[in-house]
Amino acid sequence: METTERLPGGGSDLSLLEPVLDEYAAVPGSLITILQHAQEIYGFLPEDVMRRVAERTGVKPAKVLGVATFYTQFRFKPVGKYLIMLCQGTACHVNGSELVLAAVKDELGIDDGDTTEDGLFSLKTVACLGCCSLSPVMMINGEAYGSLTPDKAVKILKELRGGANG
Ligand code: FES
Repeated sequence: METTERLPGGGSDLSLLEPVLDEYAAVPGSLITILQHAQEIYGFLPEDVMRRVAERTGVKPAKVLGVATFYTQFRFKPVGKYLIMLCQGTACHVNGSELVLAAVKDELGIDDGDTTEDGLFSLKTVACLGCCSLSPVMMINGEAYGSLTPDKAVKILKELRGGANG
């Protein structure tokens, strides 16, 4: 069987996607569904995966990318083991989330939207996590950490890092 072309930044195991494509590729209007499944499989949408989706659905690659970038749910970079969603909504903002964000960025050495080189942490600011009574708050892999201070946030990250390395 011919192996799939390896594209720059690619190298994904495309065979994982084939069952999804077999099910949906021919179904009109299913592009988003396919991309959602792809993100579940790979954690983000690698370029070679989007090309494969284009091939199988007959949708032009530029259109697949256009659709994917239109929706904020899709990611285009790998996500770290810990996905930090740091709230910058109004309640969190008035309670000092900006300082927490600065401390987290400083501790990890990354900007919003990036992942640390060791692949441990990804940082994403969001606008209200729906638990404003805990503000300022961040959610890491679905667990909420509230009433944050810069020091408290850094301590949490250090603990997670220690746990991951130890
Ligand atoms: S504003 Fe941060 S949880 Fe609502």
